[in-house]
Amino acid sequence: MDLFDAMKGRRSIRNYREASVEKETVNQLLHAATLAPSAMNSQPWAFTIIQNTALLKKLSDQAKSYLIDHCMTQDSPLNKYHSILSKSDFNIFYNASTLITIYAKPISPHALEDCCLAAQNLMLSAHALGLGSCWIGFASPFLNKVETKKEFGVPESYKAVAPIILGYPHDTIALKDKKPPEIINWQ
Ligand SMILES: Cc1cc2nc3c(=O)[nH]c(=O)nc-3n(C[C@H](O)[C@H](O)[C@H](O)COP(=O)(O)O)c2cc1C
Repeated sequence: MDLFDAMKGRRSIRNYREASVEKETVNQLLHAATLAPSAMNSQPWAFTIIQNTALLKKLSDQAKSYLIDHCMTQDSPLNKYHSILSKSDFNIFYNASTLITIYAKPISPHALEDCCLAAQNLMLSAHALGLGSCWIGFASPFLNKVETKKEFGVPESYKAVAPIILGYPHDTIALKDKKPPEIINWQ
C-alpha cells in the first residue's frame, strides 16, 4: 500500500471480528515499530503482547476502576467519560483480540517521543496489512502501576506509552475530517 493511502485510510477502529491476529503478523508489526527513528538511535522501546481475551477483559475492568477511583480529579478531562467507564459491558479494548503496549525504556531523554514514532509505524503497518488499530490511552494509568508492571514482568523504570489494540475490523468506517494545518509562520 502506498504510504499516503495508508495515512489517509487509517482510522481508529472500535469494532472487531473475533479472528485472532497471527503471530507472524504481530512480529511484522513489531518489526515495523522498531524501524522508527529515535534520538541518538537509542531505540528505547520494549513491548508486551496480550492475546488472551479473558485477560484483556480483566485488564479493561481493572483499568476502568482505576480511572474512576484515581484519575477523576475535579478538572480532569477524563470526567466526561465517567458514565461510559462505569458501564460494566464497556470494554476499553473494544473486544479486540490483541493488545500491544509500547514501553519507553529510561535510556534516553527522548524515549517518549521515540515510542510515539514507533506507535505510528505500527498502526500504519497494521492498516496496510488489513488490520484495524486504536491507541487506548484509557489503559495507560493502570498499566503504569508498579503492581501491573510486576504482573507482566515489565521493569519498574519502564513507562507504558502506547497501548495499541489490533484486530480485523468488522466493517469499514467513514474517514474523519481532519483540520487543515495551522500555519503560524512561513518565511
Ligand atoms: C494518545 C492517544 C490516546 C487515545 N486514547 C484512546 C482511548 O482511550 N480510547 C479510544 O477509543 N480512542 C483513543 N484514541 C484514539 C483517538 O480518539 C483517535 O485517534 C482520534 O479520535 C482521531 O481519530 P482517527 O484515529 O480515526 O484519525 C487515542 C489516541 C491517541 C493518539
